[in-house]
Amino acid sequence: MSQPANLDRRSFFRRTLVGGAAMGLVSQPWWEAAAQLVEGTPIRNVRGVGLDDPALVQLSINENPLGSSRRAIEAVAKAMFGMNRYPFHDQLEEALAKHHALPMEMILTGIGSSEILNLLVLAAFWDRGGNIVTAFPSYPSIPGKTEELGREVRKIPLKPDFGIDLEAMAAAIDSETRIVSICNPNNPTGQLLDAAELRRFVDTVPEDVIVCMDEAYIHFVDDPDYQSTIPLAQEKENVLVARTFSKAYGLGGVRVGYGIGHPELLKRLARFGLGRLNKNTLSIAAALGALEDPEHVTRSVELVREGKRYLYSQLREMGYEPLQTQTIFVTVEVGPNTETFIELLQEQRIAVRQAFDMDGYMRVSVGLPRENEVFVEEFRKLAVR
Ligand SMILES: Cc1ncc(COP(=O)(O)O)c(C=O)c1O
Repeated sequence: MSQPANLDRRSFFRRTLVGGAAMGLVSQPWWEAAAQLVEGTPIRNVRGVGLDDPALVQLSINENPLGSSRRAIEAVAKAMFGMNRYPFHDQLEEALAKHHALPMEMILTGIGSSEILNLLVLAAFWDRGGNIVTAFPSYPSIPGKTEELGREVRKIPLKPDFGIDLEAMAAAIDSETRIVSICNPNNPTGQLLDAAELRRFVDTVPEDVIVCMDEAYIHFVDDPDYQSTIPLAQEKENVLVARTFSKAYGLGGVRVGYGIGHPELLKRLARFGLGRLNKNTLSIAAALGALEDPEHVTRSVELVREGKRYLYSQLREMGYEPLQTQTIFVTVEVGPNTETFIELLQEQRIAVRQAFDMDGYMRVSVGLPRENEVFVEEFRKLAVR
């Protein structure tokens, strides 16, 4: 008699993964992680998992240092037996609707939040000209696409304290404005807008202008009472909130994000997407698994918070004044040597980057404790002040 399917699958994993490990493949970190998973032990800080170069300390692209949720990994492992099937279902949309207590029509899933931001620009400009108003510096996705389409980008400088200047943004809106783009907390400065101030601002924006709130880093906000703009998106037809599984959920590689907004607004965006074909069986499984593991998000946020405290104190000790961020990275003014420092760190296999559109500022994603230490050790050698 044949065995139950899930027993077959379990023994298949055991044979393939642990058997493979026994064949001398344990030196590969992903293999170690997979073997640990099958053995039922929690994955802890397996250095270099997911990187082609396990020796690289990757602190330049704001990935979750803790990795993916174990639940997400298990869900993907299970789903790979169904890869022959098209994902013609709405399971992820249903789960997200439940998660946010919203109707499903208010959710549009995308290939990362990047797709949602992209669709917004296409929907706004496919049949007409106009401009967007954005804080500057800020995440360049919406402005970049807008410029690519030959439309005007009105860049409103941040205030001297690096806060977004909502008053100046409001003043820049005219009858040709199609989108107001706000990244909150902002990347690359990590600053958060005051919720009440933001609300007052949104009230002043004309109804035919879409206010896009990019909340990629919202889980890392320090104030536990801070309100997302989702209630505003429920109230107003012109507010779009962009969220991602790439940061707190640790799924940057599987490319899932979503927009929350009025059903009519989302329909306008969806015209330019691939419908259900923009996701795949494995990405859906990963996102569903991650949603079921809020503890992983909490652990990730705590790890990042601790890492930031460490980086702040070490940078201050070296004479630098990092910006207090509410995100997954630290931004610090390094001065005219920024580019040289970044290159020298790269030579030591440590990847950090210049904070975009901020001359003299370096952005360091928070890594695992040892990765943060390695960065500090090497940076200290360069940065004697
Ligand atoms: C502010 C912000 N928005 C959106 C994204 C895009 O994320 P993804 O497409 O992985 O969801 C990023 C990525 O770093 C980001 O920093």
